[in-house]
Amino acid sequence: MGRGYGFGKVILFGEHFVVHGVSGIVSAIDSATEAEVKKAPGGITIKDERRGSKGYTEEKKAQQIESIERMLKSMGIESKAASFSIWLGGSLPGFSGLGASAASSVAIARAISEEFGLGLSDERINEIAYEAEKAYAGNPSGIDNTAATYGGLLWFKRNMAGGPNIIERLSIEKPVEIVIGSTGIVANTKAMVEGVAERKRKNPQKYDALFKQAEALAFAAKKALQDFDLKKVGELMNENHLLLQKIEVSCKELDFLVDLARAQGAFGAKLTGGGGGGCMVALTPGRELQEKVARAIEKEGFEVLRTKIGVKRL
Ligand code: PMV
Repeated sequence: MGRGYGFGKVILFGEHFVVHGVSGIVSAIDSATEAEVKKAPGGITIKDERRGSKGYTEEKKAQQIESIERMLKSMGIESKAASFSIWLGGSLPGFSGLGASAASSVAIARAISEEFGLGLSDERINEIAYEAEKAYAGNPSGIDNTAATYGGLLWFKRNMAGGPNIIERLSIEKPVEIVIGSTGIVANTKAMVEGVAERKRKNPQKYDALFKQAEALAFAAKKALQDFDLKKVGELMNENHLLLQKIEVSCKELDFLVDLARAQGAFGAKLTGGGGGGCMVALTPGRELQEKVARAIEKEGFEVLRTKIGVKRL
């Protein structure tokens, strides 16, 4: 049997903008998807035991099958002749916005590599998972599969010419508590990404200006993280949320959770990932503040994940 894992992630700065070549910052979280692959007769079967938002597994089924076919093609395996069982589990919930699709693709690619003795490097796993992401996101930036493969806190810039992306490891003084709040709404990342591209085409001037602001924000955030100026990081997260509202990827549930987190003392809060539902992230340094914000969100009936960014071992 082959085993693999892929990290969940939270985009701290630049979701959507990164698709178009703007720089972004992403952190792996200490929840991962695990996969087991075992050669077995009867074609490809999938047993998905990840804990998820209601409907997540069903809604993503067709995209999941396409993603596996894409990975096999990228590995040079004929999908019609392939016959194995896949089991998916692990601690990463199937909330939209945490890179669950990328984490599962990385986990499956690693498990296939082990079961079939392919000995694939992380770099190849990342490339293969990128192919899989196309099934979920249409035109993905590559930030999700990169975080799922390598973990850690990363600076990411897509190479729009198709060459290697810029991936830099960032380090911060110590890990910082965050709260991730899930709207419970299963979002379609592909539709959200396409929507931004279309509005950008229709309003080039407005969007160019917003994209420039997003790039400046990413650089300011990198400095604030490196200086461990958490107040500043929080303010920049708030600014990032404003930009995401302007490109129309937020929704009333996300705005509600963002406002709630800030009202409870979060240093900053924004939607994270594709938006249109999915998750928000709040910067809540210290266990006490983290607990306060998490409880307030739970009290409103939403699920939360208490985790940290910048954890070294990830
Ligand atoms: O919603 P998620 O976890 O799939 O994150 C998508 C991030 C986007 O920036 C919206 C798309 C991308 O490929 O970068």
